[in-house]
Amino acid sequence: MSAQSSMSLTPSADESQVLPAESGVPSEDGGLPELERELVKRLKTGRAALPVLPAVAQSAIRLANDPDARITDLAGLVDTDPPIAARFMSVANSVIYFRGWVTSSTQSAIVRLGLASTRDLLFQVVYASTSGGLRRYQPAVQASFRRSVLAAHAARVISRELSIGSDYDYMSGLLHDIGESRIYRILDSIATPSTPALVDQLVEKYHESAGAEVAMAWKLPTEIVDACAAHHDPAAAATPHVRLVMIADCIVNALEAELGLEKREPDLEPFDRLLVDPSIARRLIEKTRPFAAQDDKI
Ligand SMILES: [Fe+2]
Repeated sequence: MSAQSSMSLTPSADESQVLPAESGVPSEDGGLPELERELVKRLKTGRAALPVLPAVAQSAIRLANDPDARITDLAGLVDTDPPIAARFMSVANSVIYFRGWVTSSTQSAIVRLGLASTRDLLFQVVYASTSGGLRRYQPAVQASFRRSVLAAHAARVISRELSIGSDYDYMSGLLHDIGESRIYRILDSIATPSTPALVDQLVEKYHESAGAEVAMAWKLPTEIVDACAAHHDPAAAATPHVRLVMIADCIVNALEAELGLEKREPDLEPFDRLLVDPSIARRLIEKTRPFAAQDDKI
């Protein structure tokens, strides 16, 4: 399904959606929170805090879909971008180590991983590289990134366990919340006073549309654009590739509750709303749990 389909998976960030003034810091005229008005204004420009997709990531998408592509082609491209190559090898080796191998050359790493997993890890590297350097919200962005990587692993587990054949399961889980870091970056550049509660509300409210714009600007498959645009819309659960990401979010929430200070038992009610049987939900959590122990840093 396309993001531009009649399902309207991509919400618009117009002023009809703005939060009531009492939810945050009101403007001087008692109207809308000034911070939100400024955020909406910047989002309307369409380019605010839109990260640039490096050429190597663009090529990785193309090569992963090309049955005639050669490993050496992608290895050569990765090596032309030393900062990305260095980060890629660091992440790739952590993943490969997880599988029992470590390697020192880009080509060898790509042989081990395959083109599709290489593409996925390159996007993880790009996501991380576009999420640093914030003055006020770096811990929040770091937490969002860590959740996103865990959601990527969860999406792959779901895809395999529930036999949802998807070429973009990992990328959908990884990128569905990329709008959060974009909103934090815009808010970081606005001097207007704010409260933590207002910032949380603004991120929650606008990150779907902001993330869908990133995915569209990067010309990613509609499957990923839809995941960004509609993963909090209950009606979108009828769309299988969006439901996949919604279930991944449930797994991340369950694991965070389990590993958090409260060490709560996973709440299976959100799985139930997505028509996931409790025994299956427990199995998905179990299979994703080892990835929650990895330390994914920006
Ligand atoms: Fe989200």
